[in-house]
Amino acid sequence: MDEKLIFEKIGSHGVRAMVAEFYRLVPDDSILGPMYPKDDMQGAEDRLFHFMMFRLGGDQTYIEQRGHPRLRARHMPFSIGEKERDRWVELMHKAMVAAEIPEDVIEALNAFFFQVADFMRNQAEGSGIDFNPRA
Ligand code: HEM
Repeated sequence: MDEKLIFEKIGSHGVRAMVAEFYRLVPDDSILGPMYPKDDMQGAEDRLFHFMMFRLGGDQTYIEQRGHPRLRARHMPFSIGEKERDRWVELMHKAMVAAEIPEDVIEALNAFFFQVADFMRNQAEGSGIDFNPRA
């Protein structure tokens, strides 16, 4: 499903709802909770909301406020391996269900989120092998 179609189906209201549900789950999560800025959760929520709006062709606010996303570089301060990747994707899946995003959109976005989350990995977690050959 392409981005335009996703945005047509859920609108800015759907994007806001799923991001809000995600950030409702983050603080109490044993893996992700400690990584996020406790004193700026609203700011973090807004950054992800605007990024998704930009990514789905909704508007350009993210670029105006933050410039080029440079997501991999911006995630370097955080230690991200398979464990963190999988938890992020799992929490976002729960968030999309809670936000009542349609099943076909959930499927498409889930694949997108996994791909991006996998690209964020910067920790090999002891395997000693090339953990992110595309980086
Ligand atoms: C792989 C697991 C991930 C972890 C552990 C993680 C963690 C974080 C943390 C701790 C922040 C800082 C919060 C803030 O102050 O904004 C952040 C920022 C952000 N993350 Fe992630 N993230 C992950 C995956 C993703 C994915 C899959 C996406 C997008 C699909 C994403 C999009 C963003 C965006 C847009 C920001 C704000 C960047 C900016 O500063 O403008 N993250 N992430």
